[in-house]
Amino acid sequence: MGGMNAAIHNFCAGPGALPPEVLAALRADLTDWRGLGRSVAEVSHRSEAYRALQAHAEANLRRLMRLGDDREILFLQGGASGQFAMLPYNFLRAGTGADYVVRGHWGEKAARQAARVGAVRTLRDPLDWSPRAAYAHVTTNETIAGTRLPEAFPLPPSPLCADMSSDILAAPRDYGRYAFVYAGAQKNLGVAGLAVVVAEHEFLSRARRNLPACFCYLEHARAGGLYHTPNAFAVDALAHVTDWLLAQGPENVWRRNARKAERLYAELDRSAFWRPLAPPAERSLTNVTFRLPTAGLEEDFLAAAEAEGLVALRGHRALGGIRASLYNALPEAGVDALVAFMRDFERTHG
Ligand SMILES: Cc1ncc(COP(=O)(O)O)c(C=O)c1O
Repeated sequence: MGGMNAAIHNFCAGPGALPPEVLAALRADLTDWRGLGRSVAEVSHRSEAYRALQAHAEANLRRLMRLGDDREILFLQGGASGQFAMLPYNFLRAGTGADYVVRGHWGEKAARQAARVGAVRTLRDPLDWSPRAAYAHVTTNETIAGTRLPEAFPLPPSPLCADMSSDILAAPRDYGRYAFVYAGAQKNLGVAGLAVVVAEHEFLSRARRNLPACFCYLEHARAGGLYHTPNAFAVDALAHVTDWLLAQGPENVWRRNARKAERLYAELDRSAFWRPLAPPAERSLTNVTFRLPTAGLEEDFLAAAEAEGLVALRGHRALGGIRASLYNALPEAGVDALVAFMRDFERTHG
């Protein structure tokens, strides 16, 4: 269901669709937040109301990710790309290196940014880890290619860090395996302008202290998330999105996500007209990528889909083709409508 228009299904890879209930709550919070007569974006971050909001968003994440109190949660700005830089700034010291698993665009980008800071070793498979790295980094879902990293890889001997921007809270997962998790919020967690960081205290304690404060995790942790003005609107969106997930029942949302992906991949496998791009064992749950027989047909497909209210299906410019993102807020009806449209398109163009 689209934000303002029930006839729209938004398949955008990011920023992703938001649940209509969340949009309604955000509209209300822009009118009069918590009876304060002002919007959530206009209230001091030193106020009781903001502190309560941040604590609520944090508590929701702890429940959804099943985190113990050995983890610190930080709400930072600069998106996931900011974390590509902050992570190595904080943990790569002279004489230590980091392992980066690179299986796609985002993993490569993360590795390239870290290589500007220190020694980086890239590997294709999370198997032959270095014995003494400062940390090991994976990208759990490659948003552009539409591939996911199979979960059952052997743990590295060093702390495992992950960019989960495009599949955080999209499926059941053991977050306890990871010493450090980060995600831009604009796909499954709310709106852009917020990076969620979850770090094991023990790992965090190894971070550098003598960095400019704004880029120092320990400084943000010490200040309780209030080192500088937080993006209160994005934290509010995160609180509403996670309230929505808890109200739906995360298991229900995750079962629904599995059905959505299954249904779309089944359609892609049904006919040679569609050319799914991800190897079957690595198919993403959240970003489904495919091509049509010609680029001309893809343009026709995108235009006709848009006219039917199936929007933002264009693949990333680096890859072309079609990409349907099926984040938590996309209802099953969206996939049903897309599959019905695809059948019709194949009948008339195949
Ligand atoms: C897996 C992944 N990592 C990082 C990013 C970059 O995120 P941001 O735009 O928040 O910097 C994206 C954006 O699409 C992504 O999909």
